[in-house]
Amino acid sequence: MKNFISVNQLTVKDIYSILEKAEYYRNHEIKLTKQLFAANLFFEPSTRTKMSFAVAQKKLGLEILDFHSDSSSVLKGESLYDTAKTFESIGSDVLIVRHQSDSWFDELDGRISIPIINAGAGKEEHPTQCMLDLLTIYQEYGCIEGLKVVIVGDIKHSRVARSNAFALRKLGANVFLSAAPGFEDEELDFPYISIDEAVETCDVVMLLRIQHERHLHKAETSDYLKLYGLTKERERKMKEKAIIMHPAPINRGVEIDTDLVECRRSRIFKQMENGVYVRMAIMMNVLNEWRINYNENTFKKRKAIAISR
Ligand code: NCD
Repeated sequence: MKNFISVNQLTVKDIYSILEKAEYYRNHEIKLTKQLFAANLFFEPSTRTKMSFAVAQKKLGLEILDFHSDSSSVLKGESLYDTAKTFESIGSDVLIVRHQSDSWFDELDGRISIPIINAGAGKEEHPTQCMLDLLTIYQEYGCIEGLKVVIVGDIKHSRVARSNAFALRKLGANVFLSAAPGFEDEELDFPYISIDEAVETCDVVMLLRIQHERHLHKAETSDYLKLYGLTKERERKMKEKAIIMHPAPINRGVEIDTDLVECRRSRIFKQMENGVYVRMAIMMNVLNEWRINYNENTFKKRKAIAISR
């Protein structure tokens, strides 16, 4: 794929090939042989996504052009397109973009001659987060087809929910949603279940942060954990091998009891670790697709690579 924008552009084969490649990079050192630059254009706050892209870039030997929208010409009214075009002109070889608009890619589509990777589009999509979530689930169960996965929380405003729901369904998982009143999204065609049913029946409980920054009025959260979140009592009712996931940042004591963040079922920090390797794989894929990178013989010659647990 030329640009990595939506999980909907990926086939089942594409998805597994990214997961397999991520595992390869976890276990093998890889360095680009020529000087290449990556620009990280984050117009929204980020800790994990931005820093794991940075670690992935350093591991690959990509030079990072760091960008801070609050000290850039964006403050002078410069558009996303003009910002992206600037980075292309000064020699960037790949753009990583996070922006508050759901459809920011439309402004760049067909107008920029270097690969673009979506690091978060408003409340629409977060495909690299989705890939690291899929890798985490795959490591756990060795398959995705047939698993019961529930996505719990502020579904209406979550790009993570959308990307994961679509990709998991494509891979054959049974996807459920669970949301407090007002947090449902009628446009998403997936069954809703209560948090109590979810914990007893699902193999993966994927929690989401309340997206206060995308709400018109600040949501009241004092009873949220008790009514809709993962309490210790609910965790005890989860299936023996079921796992807890969360893209973070976490609102401790709101969507999850703080003691569960690092409990035996939690894969939250594993998700972060996996983010580095899937982002290496995705960047290498687009660089190869544009023939910006040298040919990737080392990876192509490999035998099938087992996904490590
Ligand atoms: C998520 C995001 O930015 O969409 N965070 C992340 O990238 N790990 C989730 C969130 O902010 O709630």
